[in-house]
Amino acid sequence: MGEGCRRRALPLPGRGRILAGEPKVSPEHEVRQVRELTTALMRRVPDSYEPFYGARGIAIDLQTARAQHAAYADALRAAGVRVHLLDADEAWPDCVFVEDPAVVVPPRALIGRLAAHREGEPPPVQAALREWHETVALDGGARLEGGDVLHVEDTTYVGLTARTNARGADALRDFLAPAGRRVVAVRVPNYLHLKTAASYLGNGTLLAVPDFAGVKAFQVDQVIHTDAAEPVAANCLRVNGDLLVVAGNPRTEPRLRAFAERHGVRVVPLEISEFQKGDGSLTCLSTLW
Ligand code: GLY
Repeated sequence: MGEGCRRRALPLPGRGRILAGEPKVSPEHEVRQVRELTTALMRRVPDSYEPFYGARGIAIDLQTARAQHAAYADALRAAGVRVHLLDADEAWPDCVFVEDPAVVVPPRALIGRLAAHREGEPPPVQAALREWHETVALDGGARLEGGDVLHVEDTTYVGLTARTNARGADALRDFLAPAGRRVVAVRVPNYLHLKTAASYLGNGTLLAVPDFAGVKAFQVDQVIHTDAAEPVAANCLRVNGDLLVVAGNPRTEPRLRAFAERHGVRVVPLEISEFQKGDGSLTCLSTLW
């Protein structure tokens, strides 16, 4: 699917409908239509992150990882978000990827069930989230990781992956029903998570790797593709008026900058090399609401 090939009415919560093809509203007006995010939960990088990947032949520079983590937190703050930093748990080296243990849609949070090498991560996240939200547990056979959950206006897409199963998708559907959100399950065969293959930029625009067939399931105004050689660029994080993008993708970044200019959004490139080595990306490093 090419850019700009879907032209349809896009419902935006609480703001009526924007009709694609209508005269352009000002960029300032469009920025205000993005759901405002005020709060982020992040989790410190454990010392064990380095030896866990070292044992698998992947060299992590822990000092660089922590500097990148701090820069990411600063970028969230600059976008108007209060950041709460949860302590790391040395027993669970991937715990820095705090997006996966929970799906937060205020006033509730659905607590995920993660892959075996991450199964101890959710309890402290759940305990922290109870400060703000009622937490909801999955049933026994359900598996769900937050990296498979992508909110696009009033619809939530859930990736069926090696990490999230159909029962997890059903549990998400039940969890979101009271909020009036539709849930659409999408198969994601070749990527770790749905948000490894696609992310939502806001303003009716999906960003996706070119070989993601599931893109057909998305009801959006347009799809921007990453360059085929830059699949890691597909994970962006829109936070209010800012778009956090993975630095070092020179073919994809101009496409994101063109989107940003059109909608009055600021592009913030972030280096996350030490988290990419652990199969992580921008969205993985926080849980936002
Ligand atoms: N290393 C990230 C994950 O396994 O989810």
